Amino acid sequence: MPEVKIPELKVLLSRETIGRRVGELGAEITRDFRGQSVIFVGVLKGAAIFLSDLARQVSLDSTFDFIGVSSYGNRPTAKDDPAGHAAWDSLGEVRLTKDLDQSLGDRNVILVEDILDTGLTLNYISRLLQAHQPRSFSIAALLDKPSRRQQPIEARYIGFTIPDVFVVGYGLDYAERYRNLPDICVLENL
Ligand code: IMP
Ligand code: MG
Repeated sequence: MPEVKIPELKVLLSRETIGRRVGELGAEITRDFRGQSVIFVGVLKGAAIFLSDLARQVSLDSTFDFIGVSSYGNRPTAKDDPAGHAAWDSLGEVRLTKDLDQSLGDRNVILVEDILDTGLTLNYISRLLQAHQPRSFSIAALLDKPSRRQQPIEARYIGFTIPDVFVVGYGLDYAERYRNLPDICVLENL
């Protein structure tokens, strides 16, 4: 009989730790844009929870928008990859599944993303949004995995820098599951 693998979850960042850091990022954004308004643009679906918590820690006039992207052209399964990368590695071919509802011209845009990994998705989205000629453009990413970067990208606001592990929870998924976990957990034994 083939061995049945049961994924294990280990807390990497607790809800308290996340809450404190999101509060700090919110205070920083409030200071940086004092006297101005901002538009938070969330990348569906992973950034939805981070955006809703972050926006409530920002005391500025603000609006929300969301875009949807899907990357196609997944890499073939690398069976010997202990971090299970093959489950989510993309080749950087990104397709827009939901466009913005509003124009970003002359707005202070804060692009909100769950995790900055290879940088391919955010590079594509950044180019798309900057074509609207916003007044300012900055990126807020809850997590950053710099060791995986393939394309350079600068996020002005970063919650946590993490090692090359696969994480779920607080919006992040594995095959669309685990997004509702309040803590960020490492998914092992994939
Ligand atoms: P990239 O920066 O283009 O490689 O892709 C970033 C996207 O990959 C994120 O928005 C996530 O959807 C997904 N991703 C990358 N690393 C993880 C992870 O550890 N857990 C869950 N999703 C991840
Ligand atoms: Mg995502």
